[in-house]
Amino acid sequence: MAQSEWTCSLSSVHEWESPDYEPSLPVSEKSNPLTRDIDRASASRIVRMLQACDAQMFQEESGATYQRLLSEQVVATLMEVAQKVEIILKDPRDSLVVLSGCGTSGRLAFLITSAFNRALQELSQRSLYSYIIAGGDRALLSSQEAPEDDPKLGMLSLKKVCEGKKRVLFIGISCGLSAPFVAGQLELCLQHPEVYTPVLVGFNPPHQARNEPIPGCTFTFRSVVQRMQELAKSHKAFLINPAVGPEAVSGSSRMKGGSATKILLEVVLSAAHAAAFTNTPVTYKGILQHMRAYEKTLDITYAQKEGISALLEAAGQSLQRGRRVCYLGWGSLATLGLIDASECIPTFGADYEDVRGFISGGYRALNNNEGPLGPDFCIAHEDFLHLVLPSLDDRDVVLLLYTQSDDVSDVEKMALRVREKTSNLHAVCHRVEGDTAADDDINKLCSSSLKINWPPPASGSLLHMQWELSTKLLLNSLSTGAHVLKGKIYQNHMMDVQVTNSKLYCRATRLLQLSGCPEIQCEEALLKAVYRVDELTVDITSSDIITHTHTARNRTKVVPLALVCLLTGCSLMEAETHLQQQPIVREAVEACLA
Ligand code: F6P
Repeated sequence: MAQSEWTCSLSSVHEWESPDYEPSLPVSEKSNPLTRDIDRASASRIVRMLQACDAQMFQEESGATYQRLLSEQVVATLMEVAQKVEIILKDPRDSLVVLSGCGTSGRLAFLITSAFNRALQELSQRSLYSYIIAGGDRALLSSQEAPEDDPKLGMLSLKKVCEGKKRVLFIGISCGLSAPFVAGQLELCLQHPEVYTPVLVGFNPPHQARNEPIPGCTFTFRSVVQRMQELAKSHKAFLINPAVGPEAVSGSSRMKGGSATKILLEVVLSAAHAAAFTNTPVTYKGILQHMRAYEKTLDITYAQKEGISALLEAAGQSLQRGRRVCYLGWGSLATLGLIDASECIPTFGADYEDVRGFISGGYRALNNNEGPLGPDFCIAHEDFLHLVLPSLDDRDVVLLLYTQSDDVSDVEKMALRVREKTSNLHAVCHRVEGDTAADDDINKLCSSSLKINWPPPASGSLLHMQWELSTKLLLNSLSTGAHVLKGKIYQNHMMDVQVTNSKLYCRATRLLQLSGCPEIQCEEALLKAVYRVDELTVDITSSDIITHTHTARNRTKVVPLALVCLLTGCSLMEAETHLQQQPIVREAVEACLA
């Protein structure tokens, strides 16, 4: 990296913490100064930028503005919550620990509860953890954003899961402290303190929690947080809300928000399990050590910068050619592949076929609450062989995701099948240093193999969680970078955002202000693009956001169209023609600005 580039990066690392930096936005929605020109970067520079953004997660507190992952107060709260879980683990009668969230937050709730229920099973204990995801299990594999706006649905789903329970530790995850679905659940907990102890995980300070009125409710997310802060003083509610810095692509909380959620909750639950089952008390030092192991995970993963860049380049080329990227995974790494692929649709306006994940063992291995989700959600390797493989060629990327503990002969069989159709086959394999996994034949079949070597671990479960985080970082880099290379991002903003819930509606209105036009004019342009009209009617302007977002569900390119109209003053039809001629959103925007 050129000296000047690096110096510049270092000076922008803390810029977002200044009170003057985008002051009206919460941290989770701010744009990251490190990635201002990610849209013009090469594959290897994209990876370096993402590495620098991820590293911000572990930066120490500087000044009093923001609590960080390693801040004393955060670690102390993690200890308290771990002790609460420990108590339940020691006497699980009529008790439950529920993790709940929307989008990626709900997907991670699923991943984490699955892992810790498995750990209990191995100890011949009953399952104690449940997950809730807004929109049900289909949201594990696709975007279901409207239910995120529904606090009553959140309450009902929590009540249903907890039926008959006398003691529930509820962990609500909302990276932006913003989802009404989660606010509703926390409200329910506050109404019934005799049963529920609420914990909130998110990545903004309390005063930045969303304060917009929620239709039909007397509370906002912020008012719920304020009541929790009061209760936290008497240890009856807990807030875990360190700042991890703005996302590399503004608002894309699937990235650092998701990673930090995984880190925090695994640290808490691991400490509780160790305390309950191996007599290892929850200590400040123990929690910190576990956090440091995750910090090391970032170093070990990004030590493979060159390999990751090559993968990103290959995936970017496939997407630019209108071809596809497939993740074929084993075990929980496959689940991470399914999650990453599903997020590309709402995040980048990608097609369902652009990036797809498949898991060895299908739904049996996924082990989700609702079981198989029907023909629209085919996820087994057999589905890949029948539905996808026949149409693959060298322009398509296939990525194998496995570890030394998986069935390597099965990986090899799959590699052979794929190799018959495409030479664009790649692999990521995690293994412990010195292990001699018999995967040489797989390497020979692949055009690139990323072997990530890990030092011998203190515990097998920690190692597995590190492999998962490493895979998440890698896949997030790959899919984000590939879409950046495809021209989906303008500066570090995703312009073609789907306007399918109130948070995204507000984000879209804000993005349109990049045009330099006032907010009111931007919202009008947005509505015109949603309803596909050049003049707004009273019917439209008097409808609520739910009606707008409902209508926007069936529309494409809403924000780019509105932006072209704002920048050029043209009609919607002219804007559509413009975007047809210039389908790369970044180039279309730049052409208008020029
Ligand atoms: O509305 C969509 C979305 O932004 C997802 O991309 C994200 O994972 C989800 O909302 C949840 O956001 P939060 O964790 O901030 O509630």
